[in-house]
Amino acid sequence: MLYKEKTIMLKNGQLCTLRSADSGDAQEMLDFIRRVSGETAFLTRYEDEVTMTANVEAEFLTSRLLSTREIMISAYIDGKLAANAGIDSLPPRDRLKHRAEMGISVLREFWGLGLGSVLMEAIIESAKAAEYEQLELEVVTENERGLTLYRKFGFELYGTRENTFKYRDGKSSACHLMLKKL
Ligand SMILES: CC(C)(COP(=O)(O)OP(=O)(O)OC[C@H]1O[C@@H](n2cnc3c(N)ncnc32)[C@H](O)[C@@H]1OP(=O)(O)O)[C@@H](O)C(=O)NCCC(=O)NCCS
Repeated sequence: MLYKEKTIMLKNGQLCTLRSADSGDAQEMLDFIRRVSGETAFLTRYEDEVTMTANVEAEFLTSRLLSTREIMISAYIDGKLAANAGIDSLPPRDRLKHRAEMGISVLREFWGLGLGSVLMEAIIESAKAAEYEQLELEVVTENERGLTLYRKFGFELYGTRENTFKYRDGKSSACHLMLKKL
């Protein structure tokens, strides 16, 4: 799905452009994923596990643009990728087609400026346009900022899975399972 480009002003007055990344953005996208993965323990990957090549990432971004129901929305500040969010379908079966999963990440230097909220609005609007009936996500129980963001947009907690993440130091984290009816 193509996201129609839009520019908004953040809480600190900086301008931010939301648009679909395309194949030409692949290397920057990989650098972003690596950086954001290294900045937080709340995403699924360690930064050294971001091993896709730029070609593979370019194909992925193109497939997202061509998809009728899956989307990536990227946020650019001063022309640089600052945040990213996406909607994934479940397997293409009639019994699952009403559900979608979402993910979001913002570079740490831009936290607290409203970027997460702007992307959540765009994701919810896109999920409705794609005719999903519910959006689902998982969030590490210690991720207070994420939980605040999701509750603000009407996600409700319906369960908690222990031991969802197992870190390299042997510690583990539980995840809350959240859902928003669209
Ligand atoms: C979670 C995340 C997406 C939030 O993005 P953000 O741009 O900081 O979000 P916003 O600026 O829109 O803030 C969202 C809300 O969190 C609140 N918030 C800020 N700091 C907070 C804190 N320390 N604890 C709890 N809530 C906090 C804000 O007040 C805001 O609510 P408000 O608009 O009603 O004031 C971002 O921190 C992030 O990418 N984290 C790392 C990756 C991640 O955790 N992704 C989600 C995985 S499930």
